[in-house]
Amino acid sequence: MKDLHDRVSAEVRRAVIGQDDALELLLAAAALGGHVLLEGPPGTAKTLLARAFAAALDTSFRRIQFTPDMLPSDVTGTVALRDGDLSFRPGPIFASVVLADEINRTPPKTQAALLEAMEERQVTVDGERHALPEPFVVVATQNPVEYEGTYPLPEAQLDRFLFRADIGYPSEDDERALLRLARRGLAPAALDDVRPVANAEDLRAAQAAVDAISATDEVEGFVVAIARATRALPGVTLGASPRAAVHLLAASRAAALLAGRDYVTPDDVVRMARPVLGHRLILSPEAELDRFTAADAVAAALAAVPVPR
Ligand SMILES: Nc1ncnc2c1ncn2[C@@H]1O[C@H](COP(=O)(O)OP(=O)(O)O)[C@@H](O)[C@H]1O
Ligand SMILES: [Mg+2]
Repeated sequence: MKDLHDRVSAEVRRAVIGQDDALELLLAAAALGGHVLLEGPPGTAKTLLARAFAAALDTSFRRIQFTPDMLPSDVTGTVALRDGDLSFRPGPIFASVVLADEINRTPPKTQAALLEAMEERQVTVDGERHALPEPFVVVATQNPVEYEGTYPLPEAQLDRFLFRADIGYPSEDDERALLRLARRGLAPAALDDVRPVANAEDLRAAQAAVDAISATDEVEGFVVAIARATRALPGVTLGASPRAAVHLLAASRAAALLAGRDYVTPDDVVRMARPVLGHRLILSPEAELDRFTAADAVAAALAAVPVPR
């Protein structure tokens, strides 16, 4: 897996400068069969990163550009008459890696079609169930909710994402470096240079390897204590769910695997706490007015729990 990590990141780095944390989360999600939400201001390479990541994988890939006029069937597919027979025409969700670009630009009904498919790994059209491919990883992007003309994802559905990666502005050095990337006109040219270096079989092997990573009682206790601490925080009206705790331990296993270890350390848990928990906490209006963020809440929960030694 360390090797898989190195191979995929070497390819992605041809097109994308920096964003190492987000790339690590994409790899961990692929190894777990989970979904990732990339959130950040426009022009910070969210789409580019997702496309480069997909290009480094030798799996089926579709991009869905979400718009206000899109219908659920534009995602899932439709039943159409062909040669006198009704047959299912699969929508763009039927791919191993799906880029769901700018999901908060589409109204709730279409978002729900995507989110349901993510959770159930199947779609139902006209009463018929159609299984999605395996592996199945959705990489969604969105601008922060303050932007106009967006439909915020319902909080209760956000936890279908294993991770939310907060994409920030690059460092000064990285911003200079990206000016020097080859481009055709204004478009990055390097995307064409990204070679597929991992296939579905590699991802399945990674999933098996994650399952084999061990976690001690102390580490399990640490995960539970962090989840419980988020529920007791002032300023947080809804803390981490038991499902979030399950996801945190799984993510920590993937982090251990990416680091080339076969056991989870408390440090893996600390590193994964923010991307796993951040988007699942609901803050009180007062806390938001005080500019207390979900990241602050995760930090406060971590500070409240002693790290096992
Ligand atoms: N970290 C980066 N590495 C390489 N190119 C970048 C980076 N950040 C921004 N760019 C440039 O900005 C463009 C916009 O990126 P894009 O992925 O469309 O942004 P977003 O989806 O976040 O709005 C890219 O095509 C690339 O030319
Ligand atoms: Mg984009």
